Amino acid sequence: MTADVEPSRLQPQVLPLFADRTPRVVDSDEAFGDKAAEVPGPDTAGLPAPTQRVIVGDARKIDLPDASVDLIVTSPPYWKKRDYGHADQIGLEDTPQGFVSSIMDCFQEWRRLLRPTGSIFLNVGDTYYKRSLMGIPGRIEAAAMDNGWLVRNRIIWAKEKGQGMPEPAKNRLANRHEYIIHFSPRTNYYYDLFGYSAEYGNGANPGDVWTMGLDRNMGAHLAPYPRELVRRAIVLACPPTVCTTCGVPPERVVARTARLDPSRPQAKRAMQLAVEKGLTEAHIAAIQATGVSDAGKALSFQTGTGRNSKSVQTLAREAKEALGGYFREFTFAKKITTGWTSCGHEGRTRGVVLDPFMGTGTTLQVALQTGRDAIGVDLNPIAPEVG
Ligand SMILES: C[S@@+](CC[C@H](N)C(=O)[O-])C[C@H]1O[C@@H](n2cnc3c(N)ncnc32)[C@H](O)[C@@H]1O
Repeated sequence: MTADVEPSRLQPQVLPLFADRTPRVVDSDEAFGDKAAEVPGPDTAGLPAPTQRVIVGDARKIDLPDASVDLIVTSPPYWKKRDYGHADQIGLEDTPQGFVSSIMDCFQEWRRLLRPTGSIFLNVGDTYYKRSLMGIPGRIEAAAMDNGWLVRNRIIWAKEKGQGMPEPAKNRLANRHEYIIHFSPRTNYYYDLFGYSAEYGNGANPGDVWTMGLDRNMGAHLAPYPRELVRRAIVLACPPTVCTTCGVPPERVVARTARLDPSRPQAKRAMQLAVEKGLTEAHIAAIQATGVSDAGKALSFQTGTGRNSKSVQTLAREAKEALGGYFREFTFAKKITTGWTSCGHEGRTRGVVLDPFMGTGTTLQVALQTGRDAIGVDLNPIAPEVG
């Protein structure tokens, strides 16, 4: 591979491939910008402000219509940890099996409430009993799978240094993590990995370990969980809006740009070379369509290039000759949101987050802050300070 290509060969006017449209030469940093403006989120203009509703009752029988909830984010009582002082409380069953059975009764009800694109993020920790961990999170996962649920992720909430509960044990390590298990009844649950990665992963998939501290105002006896835990779950799996006619949420449409990160020296050099050699946006699109190995999508189709396989491969070859090894930089170029899908109907409503063990209402607070409608259920709800 060589970068010594005659610039004139790459001038668009001498390339018959460009005869069908006026090529835009990559000639400045601006030319590496977006072809389309970034669209931040589905349109919520005109929708009423997010609402919250608190229902006093049992998580196993909730007075809500079928298919009316987009996401459940919740932390049930952990087995044998606390007495919430109510005859119908979950958590003080005699055996782990009894506890898991109560949680499965909840799941059965929650399945009814979820829209077809809905899912559950369940924060749960384990319990030592008679000197052994009981494997509660794993038992819940196994029972849920037996009941037809998919276990999509077992996320580890790693507590920041000094933030676990003090433990007297001298012959084992102190517990410093809990789980957040993502369950879905179907494979087509709503999931915005792109939006989440942009916020928490610098564009790359951020992985299944969430290192979070406890919020400062957490009273130990109430067992609230961090707001960030709820926020992450909502960003990932609660659509901002859903259709009032069919309940389908708009999904993010993403396109690759030619924009590179100029803070990386290799990316900067790649941009300089592209300018020097007179490459066009069509060249960059061709590199992206063929990919690093030349075995990319261009062999069968070329999303966004508007050209046939042969011409795309020719463009990619020219660009790779011009850029040398730096062509790889353009295969990692930034992606942007260019729009949101539409089911074709008009009406929209906000996505709905439910916490069936709402406690102090952490979930409701975050749902409202992120523009979702919020519903909380608890045998003993503690009035949430919303804001
Ligand atoms: C671990 S706390 C939830 C804490 C909450 N995530 C927060 O941020 O404050 C568990 C809650 O479940 C409630 N609870 C226990 N059994 C219940 C049941 N059968 N139905 C509904 N709520 C129940 C308790 O009253 C308690 O508020």
